[in-house]
Amino acid sequence: AHAPDLKGLSLVVSAGPTREYLDPVRFISNPSSGKMGYAVAIEAQARGAAVTLVSGPVNLPNPAGIKLVKVESALEMHAAVLEAAQDAQIVVMTAAVADYRAATPKTEKEAKTAGEVSVHLTPNPDILAALGREKGGRVLIGFAMETHAGVERAALKAQRKNADFILLNYPTQQGTSFGGDDNQITLVRPNGSFEEWPRLSKREVAARLLNEALQVYMQHSTA
Ligand code: C5P
Repeated sequence: AHAPDLKGLSLVVSAGPTREYLDPVRFISNPSSGKMGYAVAIEAQARGAAVTLVSGPVNLPNPAGIKLVKVESALEMHAAVLEAAQDAQIVVMTAAVADYRAATPKTEKEAKTAGEVSVHLTPNPDILAALGREKGGRVLIGFAMETHAGVERAALKAQRKNADFILLNYPTQQGTSFGGDDNQITLVRPNGSFEEWPRLSKREVAARLLNEALQVYMQHSTA
């Protein structure tokens, strides 16, 4: 049984990939499974929080007792997260938001030709950074996947996006991150201080993440 230590708090969690359609039947996406975000949502709900889960397309069951908002594109996720965050105290961005979308998606499926084609991409809004610009008293948490210089890059991201901390993971470790059930995390703060966690299940990562988030929230509210 869980202590209801998040009772009275509203959380928004984003999860999964986004899909950026090039035409009605083709899209750009990534292999995010959504498992990390769903674990955070389920753990938070079990500890008494009111949870809105904004999810891209994933193959996971709808969690009981959680408000689920399904989206596809980064623009849809941006709108849904910003709206849900209005009355949230904690926002956890685990989603693997596509960095770019088609500048002008085709409204009809194009016939294939023999020659090369090119696609013009335009940047998507950074949802976490948008929340960081109007932070209010909210606790903002991001994830980052890096192949090198992880701590420095994650600390710069936390600064730039005005996040309280970022959970850094690497795409290369067996059984962790994309699609796996475990995760190997380094918690990185904007000032560059960091903490290495052991390899844990995503549910255990979620529990630690929420412990940290609650601590930051209590520091904010007593400051
Ligand atoms: O900059 P990068 O994509 O590595 O940052 C990762 C963090 O920022 C994640 O928490 C991710 O959910 C969030 N993000 C976002 N909007 C984007 C891109 C990333 O909120 N367009």
